[in-house]
Amino acid sequence: MAIRMIRTGTDPVLRKVAKPVPAITPVIMKLMDDMAQTMYDANGVGLAAVQVGILKRVIVMDVGEGLIELVNPEIVETSGSQTDSEGCLSLPGIRGEVERAMNATVKGLNRDGEEVVIHASGLLARCALHEVDHLNGILFTDYLSPDQIVYVSEKESVGE
Ligand code: NI
Repeated sequence: MAIRMIRTGTDPVLRKVAKPVPAITPVIMKLMDDMAQTMYDANGVGLAAVQVGILKRVIVMDVGEGLIELVNPEIVETSGSQTDSEGCLSLPGIRGEVERAMNATVKGLNRDGEEVVIHASGLLARCALHEVDHLNGILFTDYLSPDQIVYVSEKESVGE
């Protein structure tokens, strides 16, 4: 495993739409391993492949309930709403209150190529919605007006 460089700020890769993964090859498995290690090293709770410069639809998450890896994740249903402070490993030094769905059903493939369905709520739902946004070139600050952005120390800003 290896820690990869996290793309930050105005890096254009963060605005690109990631491509579906046609097959889970050893290269994809290595990417997932590296993404998990990179996320843990940065004390984040989620990471999308675009954040390490790879335009493929792969995300990893761990909100304290164990590692979840998803290939080609799709949000199939959402309900409710929650508003809470959110950060991003690609936007160090920034946080903001973002309204998201409280519950999200997420479908994708695990590393064995099996379809998995996750019924996420609370922080995990927030994280899944944030990571799938990354795959579509969307950052959490897109939901905020400039006066809603809170500037904090880099250490305090860790997130998704
Ligand atoms: Ni993020």
